[in-house]
Amino acid sequence: MPQGTTQAADRPLAGQVALVTGASRGIGLAIAARLGRMGARVAICARQPRALEQAAKGLRQSGTEVLAVPADVTRPPEVAAVVERTHQAFGPIDILVNNAGISVFRPIHETTEADWDAVLGTNLKAVFLVSKAVAPEMIRRRTGHIINISSLAGKNAFAGGGVYCASKWGLLGLTYCMAEDLRAHGIRVSAVCPGTVATEFSPHTGKDPSKMLQPEDVAHAVAALVTQAPQSFISEILLRPTQKP
Ligand SMILES: NC(=O)c1ccc[n+]([C@@H]2O[C@H](COP(=O)([O-])OP(=O)(O)OC[C@H]3O[C@@H](n4cnc5c(N)ncnc54)[C@H](OP(=O)(O)O)[C@@H]3O)[C@@H](O)[C@H]2O)c1
Repeated sequence: MPQGTTQAADRPLAGQVALVTGASRGIGLAIAARLGRMGARVAICARQPRALEQAAKGLRQSGTEVLAVPADVTRPPEVAAVVERTHQAFGPIDILVNNAGISVFRPIHETTEADWDAVLGTNLKAVFLVSKAVAPEMIRRRTGHIINISSLAGKNAFAGGGVYCASKWGLLGLTYCMAEDLRAHGIRVSAVCPGTVATEFSPHTGKDPSKMLQPEDVAHAVAALVTQAPQSFISEILLRPTQKP
C-alpha cells in the first residue's frame, strides 16, 4: 500500500474540525482524544477552567491540535463564544458532539424544581442551543455530523431516574427530529445511548467498574459514526457492556 494511503487510513479525519462539549474528563475527554488521534483538530469546553486546561494539556501531549474554551453550555452567550472561537482558530465545525451532561438521581417527590431546571437545561436545552449555533454553517457547507450522547436511561425507566430519564428521553426525540430537519442538507444527526460508564458522573453503587463500559467504548462508537460512507447513516447506537456489571 502506498504511504499516502496508509496515512489517510490512520488519520481519516485529517482536515476536519470537531467540537466536543463537556470534554474536561470522562466520556467527552475520551471522545476528544479519539477524534484527535483520527486527525481532527478538536475544540473542547467545560465550566471549570483549570480541569479543562489540564485536559487540553494531555491532549496536546498526545499530538492533538486542541482549543480549550471554558463555557457553560446552558448559557447562550458562552455557546456563541465557543463556536466563534472555534471558527476563528480552526475554521467551520465538521463534527459536533453534544456530550456535556449532569445527573440527579432521586425519586420525583424528592426532586426540586432547581434539579429539574439544571438537568433539563444541561442535558436537553443546551443540545438545542449548541446545535442551533453550529447547524447554519453546516447547512451552508452541506456537510456535518451532530452526535448527541444520550443514554439507555433515555429508553428504560428506573426508580429515582425521573428527571434524568426525562432529559435523555427528550434528547432522543430532539435527535430524531433534528436528523429529519438536517438530512436533506447533508448533515447526519445520531444518538449514542450508553449503559453505565465508569466515570465520575455518579457513584454507580453496587456495580463492578471492571465490567462497566469505559469512556473509550463510547469514543469507539463515535469514531464509527464519523467514518460512515456518505450515502447512509447509523441514526442510533445502543451500547451495552458485554458482561452485566
Ligand atoms: N457515566 C455514565 O454512566 C453515562 C451513561 C450514559 C450516558 N452518559 C452521558 O454521557 C455524558 C458524559 O458523562 P460522563 O460520565 O463523562 O460525566 P462526567 O465525568 O461527570 O463529565 C461531564 C463533563 O461535562 C462537563 N459539563 C457538565 N455540565 C456542563 C455545562 N453546563 N457546560 C459545559 N460543560 C459541562 C463537565 O465539566 P464541568 O463540570 O467543568 O462543566 C465534564 O467535563 C453525559 O451526557 C451523560 O449523561 C453517562
